Amino acid sequence: MKINVNNASLKTTAGRPDQFPRDARPQVAFSGRSNVGKSSLINSLLRRKSLARTSASPGKTITVNFYDVDGKLFLVDLPGYGFAKRSPEDKKRWSSLTDGFFTKNPNIDLLKLVVQLVDSRIGPTKDDLDMLAFMGEYGIPHVIVATKSDKLNATGKKNIIEQLEKEPLCAKAEGIVLYSAASHTGRDEVWGLIASACGL
Ligand code: GTP
Ligand code: MG
Repeated sequence: MKINVNNASLKTTAGRPDQFPRDARPQVAFSGRSNVGKSSLINSLLRRKSLARTSASPGKTITVNFYDVDGKLFLVDLPGYGFAKRSPEDKKRWSSLTDGFFTKNPNIDLLKLVVQLVDSRIGPTKDDLDMLAFMGEYGIPHVIVATKSDKLNATGKKNIIEQLEKEPLCAKAEGIVLYSAASHTGRDEVWGLIASACGL
């Protein structure tokens, strides 16, 4: 089935797990630390400049946002973790919301893929590795996208891929892709992984 990626819109902004949509469509979630580039990646995939709101200051996305793509699947923008400047109340809200996405989601069987973002200049953080361990343990299918690759030279690009490939917690990933939301490098590869995970 062909997906018209130009036909996308924000369907639901959920501040609580009970607001997650109940539509029986495959979901692909984007996970990663604050500021790693989740919303920018979604915009790049959907060929839109600012459908998902981005920001140079971390903590922009504070709700779980569901983007309907051509009536066939949802891309799900999760709030970023590891943002130190958040208040304790906000951190609590964040963890109940994001944990809720995995543990209180009535449609968890529709979650076909998690795209785990890692900053290509930093490599996987402790939180990134915790997330990868969690997905490995619970059998959640996932791929790894190394973001902001336009900021690296050829050696840097080679190094981050090698680092991820030899990290044991990355072993269950169904793909590792170097991405740039600036030049859209990696876009076809990520769409290929999404389509195959969703059976589209
Ligand atoms: P939260 O919503 O806070 O969790 O952040 P996020 O992961 O959604 O990050 P966002 O997409 O808002 O991007 C954060 C910053 O990184 C913005 O200033 C983006 O322009 C920049 N950025 C994201 N992706 C890329 C990329 O591929 N290349 C470059 N050069 N900058 C990027
Ligand atoms: Mg965001």
